[in-house]
Amino acid sequence: MVDVIPEPRDAVVHGDGFFELDARTGLSAGEGAALTERWLRGTLGAATGLPLPPGASADDNVVRLSVDPAVTEDLGAEGYRLTVTPTGVDLAGGGPAGLFWGAQTLRQLLGPDAFRRAPLPGGSRRLPLCRIEDAPRFPWRGLLLDVARHFMPKEGVLRYLDLMAAHKLNVFHFHLTDDQGWRLGIERYPRLTEVGSWRSRTKFGHRASPLWEEKPHGGHYTRDDIREIVAYAAERHITVVPEIDVPGHSQAAIAAYPELGNTDVIDTASLTVWDTWGISPNVLAPTDNTLRFYEGVFEEVLELFPSEFVHIGGDECPKDQWRASPAAQARIRELGLADEDALQAWFVGHFAKWLSARGRRLIGWDEILEGGVAEGAAVSSWRGYGGGIAAARAGHDVVMCPEQHVYLDHRQADGADEPVPIGYVRTLEDVYRFEPVPPELDASQARRILGTQANLWTEVMEDHARVDYQAFPRLAAFAEVAWSALPAPRDRDFAGFEHRMTAHYRRLDALGVGYRPPGGPLPWQRRPGVPGRPIEGPPPNR
Ligand code: ACM
Repeated sequence: MVDVIPEPRDAVVHGDGFFELDARTGLSAGEGAALTERWLRGTLGAATGLPLPPGASADDNVVRLSVDPAVTEDLGAEGYRLTVTPTGVDLAGGGPAGLFWGAQTLRQLLGPDAFRRAPLPGGSRRLPLCRIEDAPRFPWRGLLLDVARHFMPKEGVLRYLDLMAAHKLNVFHFHLTDDQGWRLGIERYPRLTEVGSWRSRTKFGHRASPLWEEKPHGGHYTRDDIREIVAYAAERHITVVPEIDVPGHSQAAIAAYPELGNTDVIDTASLTVWDTWGISPNVLAPTDNTLRFYEGVFEEVLELFPSEFVHIGGDECPKDQWRASPAAQARIRELGLADEDALQAWFVGHFAKWLSARGRRLIGWDEILEGGVAEGAAVSSWRGYGGGIAAARAGHDVVMCPEQHVYLDHRQADGADEPVPIGYVRTLEDVYRFEPVPPELDASQARRILGTQANLWTEVMEDHARVDYQAFPRLAAFAEVAWSALPAPRDRDFAGFEHRMTAHYRRLDALGVGYRPPGGPLPWQRRPGVPGRPIEGPPPNR
């Protein structure tokens, strides 16, 4: 068995022979292979110091890259077949994406030092003789990164795209706006970033913590930063799905443009970007002005992000201001709606139609099911499995990301050493035994589950070291859940996974990932005295 993560569908090792890359090893690329060729030459070239010159495909001592219709037929466009013989390597993808995932496997087979950016003296350049056939279980293998609560500078985002690629994850859900910050440069509304992208101080710890970080926090991505991020992701066969949250989680936008808020209820001109955590009561006013404003935002979003799906949030929108607002109440009457929930459904429905008229699809958190959701819209099921089950039964596509299973802000172990412990204990093994498809669904409903996503909410992750700690090693287990055809949760071979993790920790070390060591946090990974909010007991399964 090879120690690849996520585990390939089928792998056979032929004895203990090997193929060794050397200064003459060529890299040949057929049609559809150019991106993977470039990536391999850059990555393996840096790690091994080898030139990997373009080589003729008939030669010996060559790594041959191709897209092969026979592989497409057997394994699909994201599948690949990798054959290592004493004379060379054949890597064939079902499509350019499959070829790229195969290149990730190839890199893992070379050993942990293949994850470095310069060669070590005497570093291994050997590949075991083997044949691997592989394909993903799900087409949506996602990671959400919340850059609103704590900004992650562009370099960090590019690094996370590399980490995703190394784990064969292919959807980057980019949570760009929230009460605590607006991170996306919008040309026609400069105040969104001038005002909305920074706050003067930040709650340190869970919202009940008395501690503050008494310094400004902020940052945003320019339109060119976003173009670079999207292109960098596309070269790695990762789709970036932007999230612009409406009508709740919008205080940063209201602080920038007070007319977006419920001006007949509160003095929105005195609002600032929120400096603490939780659910802000300050939500968008359901006015034509707000709709036009966000259409303007989404027009720029569509220019920057080519993804089929655009995430509009839709979660956690308190209705108190709408109940108190004469303007919102007049809107409810004018539209003939039953109540404030129906007003939210109308608001979200407006953007579902707007996106669909432009050839895109809306995706939102499972609250968008309340009051009815537009045809063609998809649902991110976060409040357990229930929303996803209801959505799949109603014929909507679903991404399963139940908070009690795959919210990686939740603590990884019991005990006082976990930094700012919040939520349930979700160990590496718990994540490994997470099952995205609930048994309640029949086969046709189960096909509505596009896949699954791990979510990194960053209220208590103030920098990239904290993000690394919460993400790893659990993201490796999650990647295997999303990619590999694992048996039912209780039958999963966690011991086998842990065994493969021995090699994987060394890859993460070579990549400079600040994961949680199996023995617990290192001293500098702890946050003594910073209050979290642990939830005791096991999480509800549903
Ligand atoms: C969410 O965690 N509010 C989607």
